[in-house]
Amino acid sequence: MSGHEFQSFFPDSGSVDMTDTSTNIDATTLAEMRQLAGRYPEARSALLPMLHLVQSVDGRISPAGIEACADILGITTAQVSGVATFYTMYRRRPGGKHHIGVCTTALCAVMGGDHLLEQVSEKLGIGPDETTPDGKFSLERLECNAACDFAPVMMVNWEFMDNMTPAKAQQLIDDLAADAEVTSTRGATITSWREAERVLAGFSDGRADEGPSAGEASLLGKKIADEKGWAAPKGGKA
Ligand code: FES
Repeated sequence: MSGHEFQSFFPDSGSVDMTDTSTNIDATTLAEMRQLAGRYPEARSALLPMLHLVQSVDGRISPAGIEACADILGITTAQVSGVATFYTMYRRRPGGKHHIGVCTTALCAVMGGDHLLEQVSEKLGIGPDETTPDGKFSLERLECNAACDFAPVMMVNWEFMDNMTPAKAQQLIDDLAADAEVTSTRGATITSWREAERVLAGFSDGRADEGPSAGEASLLGKKIADEKGWAAPKGGKA
């Protein structure tokens, strides 16, 4: 790493927390970052997975992580910071062991998403974008997860929890708090947000095939079409 001091161009805009300079990035992390950069014809295409890797080791986008990405990719820290603060999946401050999202976009809202968020928030004792004092949970109000056919939907560490109710959410949180084994309603084992971030960075945990690839509700239209002999019109010139 270059050793120069990282400076935010937007120090008061809710950007990356520059006061927390702690980091767990070590030689292994740097080697993995270089490995990611080597997977693409243009190294800078690896920035998004590299930032996920930073989150998996530091629990947030850290100043050291920004420096490391910039050094390895040969771009400026401002460019890295610009990307890290644009996408909502990159955290500027530490989250919980389990990151819980509740969708409140149109269809989930109609099916009770706002009430669900209220209940989850009350149960955890925190609001959206906050983390419990014991560091176990963080909460986020999510935009559509593209799982509207299972509304209302929650996410735990980016794994789906479909067709949720306040009672199911309370049980889920109790189980996670007790470190009980929990699976997504689609089958995947819930690990931790940091472990999920490592998978998003492109390092498999061998669990990709847990659960079905498409749920019953998503396949219903196809089933009905098959039963009725419907088919999509053939493409061609208008
Ligand atoms: S509106 Fe919630 S998943 Fe689409």
